[in-house]
Amino acid sequence: MYIDFDRKNMRFMLNTDNTAYIFEIVGGKFPVHRYYGKKIDRPEFMKAKYHSFSPYQFCTDTYFSVADEFMEFPLFGSGDFRCTALKLRGINGDCCTQFIYSGYSIKNGRTEIPGMPFARPEKNSETLELYMRDELNSCTLTLYYTVFPECDIISRSFSLINEGKTAVKIEKAMSLSLDLAGHEFDLISLHGKHMMECMMQRTPLFYGNQSIMSRRGASSHQFNPFIALALSGADEEHGDIYAFNLVYSGNFLDEVEVDHAGNTRVAIGIGSENFGMRLEENEEFFSPEAIMLYTENGLGEMSRKMHAFVRGCISPPEICQNRPVVLNTWEACHFKIDEQLLLDFADEAKKCGIDMIVVDDGWFGERCDDRRGLGDWYVNSEKFPSGLRDFAEKIKDKGLKFGIWIEPEMISPDSGLYRAHPEWCLGCTGRELSLSRSQLVLDLCNPEVVKYLKETFAGIFDGVPIDYIKWDFNRHLSEVGSYALPYDRQDEATHRYMLGVYELYRFFINHFAGVMIENCSGGGGRYDLAMMALSSQIWTSDNTSPSARMKIQYGSSLAYPASVMSCHVSDPGNSENEMRLLDFRYKTALGGILGYEMNILKKSVQVRKEILEQIKFYRMVEDIIKTGDMYRLISPFENTSEISSYYYAKSGGSRTERILFSFLQRNRDEKKTLYLLRIAAADGAYYREYFSGKVYSGEELRSGICINASAEDASGQIMLFELTDKA
Ligand code: GLA
Repeated sequence: MYIDFDRKNMRFMLNTDNTAYIFEIVGGKFPVHRYYGKKIDRPEFMKAKYHSFSPYQFCTDTYFSVADEFMEFPLFGSGDFRCTALKLRGINGDCCTQFIYSGYSIKNGRTEIPGMPFARPEKNSETLELYMRDELNSCTLTLYYTVFPECDIISRSFSLINEGKTAVKIEKAMSLSLDLAGHEFDLISLHGKHMMECMMQRTPLFYGNQSIMSRRGASSHQFNPFIALALSGADEEHGDIYAFNLVYSGNFLDEVEVDHAGNTRVAIGIGSENFGMRLEENEEFFSPEAIMLYTENGLGEMSRKMHAFVRGCISPPEICQNRPVVLNTWEACHFKIDEQLLLDFADEAKKCGIDMIVVDDGWFGERCDDRRGLGDWYVNSEKFPSGLRDFAEKIKDKGLKFGIWIEPEMISPDSGLYRAHPEWCLGCTGRELSLSRSQLVLDLCNPEVVKYLKETFAGIFDGVPIDYIKWDFNRHLSEVGSYALPYDRQDEATHRYMLGVYELYRFFINHFAGVMIENCSGGGGRYDLAMMALSSQIWTSDNTSPSARMKIQYGSSLAYPASVMSCHVSDPGNSENEMRLLDFRYKTALGGILGYEMNILKKSVQVRKEILEQIKFYRMVEDIIKTGDMYRLISPFENTSEISSYYYAKSGGSRTERILFSFLQRNRDEKKTLYLLRIAAADGAYYREYFSGKVYSGEELRSGICINASAEDASGQIMLFELTDKA
């Protein structure tokens, strides 16, 4: 049993294999947080100290104040002055929010969240539902806690139902709030921009509120929803880490606040900006799921647990199987899609060991550049004279798979769909709409639009042997309103838009069963757990330069595994360094799901032969990378030589292997040329390195392999160690 209730002390205890989370119902009314950390038998409970100027009405004794206590689910407007989890405008128009504990239930498995992606339970998952009631507003609040014991993860979400006759309105919704003693933490987060996602930053907490968020209608390239609090001094291998993430792809807020008493509150959720949800009688709101994890063993273990969680509980179950090596047409053709050229690509791709041709943008409507055609989902008959099905069958006849690009959420003003239905865009009445990449966003709050898209794509793709869909999303939401929503529900548009997106995804998953989806938003603009639940992989970045990828992939590995990270080798150019640059690109792309993006017809025989060899090696090691444990060794964010190194380790079955990567972009630091890379290995065991044939003892690997970082700039090295009997 992982969740327990101690009735005498009114204490809830949630356990994972290595962590414990405890809270109590104080005075029979208030859920107060007591402990989150390493699993221990008799935890010391922190009790908050009462401070003057803290209101204590509705308290159990004079010194209990919601302004000082560690509240499980802090409420706006009733004396807790820190950042709160819920703001509710009640029947009298004020935002005084008071929910009182009214009961609980514990069950095996989990409660589903209607309309939204959520984590699949582990075999031993259990869920606590905690009920709270605001009598004045006739509202019931349910807090959901699901434990994922193996991954040491606890997830949280809430629902709120209005059982009264008068409407209420949720104005801030945070799925998770956690109070921690002290503030000796660094906040670690991933910021970025288009072409440069997932840049790591680490800053000490200060007194006051610090947050990262997206107001873009997408989880965004700019800030990823993942954050961690690392105890000052914690590193890859040591130290307390609390990590958080949100299973949602729209606007989010990750709030961290160090309060007057020097304690830290973390809250993760949709937030309040551009968000509201009006609830009429019997209407219910469900928040997205947020997750949290604790480890005492540093950032490396945090990531390995997060990776295991994504693979086991988030990604579609077949995530690690049958991942095709694709040849995507984008960088080679852009909008100049030509059937014969693609068939020639296919012949050559087959010889190189590639599995699939993905026809990217430009195959439909009048889409000859990025200024028109989105929304007009019919096959361009000049580009495919005998239709899509015929073309796809020709590709299949060559023994390849067939993939295709779509951007269903968007519409170009220069399109038949816009001319017929200008009111189907998101927009604000009376306002001119801003364009981005010459496009507008379809109003997926409007069920009519979602229905139209379902019918349109079924009409065009039914009967076509499609194996893979690349689903793109190439702008953010600016004038967010919906012509389909009434005046007093306009601030629901951003969230309802996401619900429409999720509905459309579910339609694709069910209707085109077995078709693999690659998510993309100009690269990693929706690199989040919800998209990972709906797709098999994500195009990590539009930037395929290995020096940029070195950082982007390293940064995203903090929270996300290689099994979702789509990485393509793009054209290294025709210089005398072509083969070395091809090798550097390939070795970088090997850190995820390998693919190619270049005009292979224009490449020399030598390059094509090399691609064949690259794919052979990838097939040999992909399982270690996709399903193994990742250990980061040298961070490209921390050294001056632009070096990065990490390895994946996999034990089990008949093989035990480690694959070590090290990259050198540019050596700016002449002195630091030698690096010791320490690799976890067993005492008394021997490991053969695949390329050199050299045998190393476990002790040798643990004490470190020496790499020479003064080797050529822009190069990558790989070492593959396999357990062997022979010394
Ligand atoms: C986005 C994607 C690219 C490509 C183009 C097509 O930028 O990230 O990979 O699909 O759109 O327009």
